[in-house]
Amino acid sequence: TQHFIVIGNPIAHSKSPEIHTQFAAQAGIEISYQRQYCPDDAASFTAVIEAFFQGGGVGANVTVPFKQVAYNCCVARGGLSEHAKVAGAVNTLLLNKTLLKNGASIAEAIYGDNTDGQGLVNHITSLDWPLKDARVALIGAGGAARGVILPLIEAGISDLTLANRTLSKATNLVNDLSAASETIAKQQIKTCTTDQLSGAFDIIINATSIGLSGDTLPLSDELSGHYAYDMMYGRTLPFLQHFAERGAQTSDGYGMLIGQAALSFERWTGQAIDVVKVTEILQTH
Ligand code: ATR
Repeated sequence: TQHFIVIGNPIAHSKSPEIHTQFAAQAGIEISYQRQYCPDDAASFTAVIEAFFQGGGVGANVTVPFKQVAYNCCVARGGLSEHAKVAGAVNTLLLNKTLLKNGASIAEAIYGDNTDGQGLVNHITSLDWPLKDARVALIGAGGAARGVILPLIEAGISDLTLANRTLSKATNLVNDLSAASETIAKQQIKTCTTDQLSGAFDIIINATSIGLSGDTLPLSDELSGHYAYDMMYGRTLPFLQHFAERGAQTSDGYGMLIGQAALSFERWTGQAIDVVKVTEILQTH
């Protein structure tokens, strides 16, 4: 049996154990996948992670509020993937086998990846929404937005506008990311405030934390999109309702959740997952 955990605080609500249990059933391998609570400080996080891998654990997912802590932890140990580096955050931990072979201890070999952004791209692709040459508007400039920018650009979009309530956070994010990645610098991302976002886009993505809270985004009547995606999931997302009423196709972020999990699972086990099939099974539960 291969052992996995998801670490967060709070953690009781995490759907990762049921998702990964379905993946393992599909791949025909035996796993245990547990929710791991951790006090909200870096020292506790590091202690929990080290104990997990030293005890023979194969992989861990990291969720709120530890994604940046996990990033710092890996910088000082087994290293980071390009996506984790640019995102400034880690959602997937594993051991760096090369370092282990070269004599590093288990604690020194803890390596971080980030599959969130590619999970979004894979889900959008599975919906048959065209990303290649798409004009994309991304709303939000926090950790969630940061994590998806490089994968969206790598998917071949033609044009990216980043909108945020606080304009300075959007421009700072673009400056940061452009310094961190040549691919991003070349894209020349435009920025504006959310209420100034206007014009016709192919895909409009909500990466703010507004979700199911009572608040709504101040969206202009001059803003239109063929497709609208909310990275949150739930029954009635006001952002999606707004665009559905205007004829757009819409999706919540449940498929992104499954998509990022599938990429973690593939990274850990080498087994490819049929995400569409697993999503169908999970939705009928
Ligand atoms: P996350 O990691 O989920 O991205 P975050 O880093 O706290 O969380 O970022 C939250 C994002 O949602 C920000 O873009 C924030 O806008 P500001 O930068 O202006 O704060 C956005 N957000 C949160 N609540 C919002 C609201 N009520 N209206 C508009 N934007 C909101």
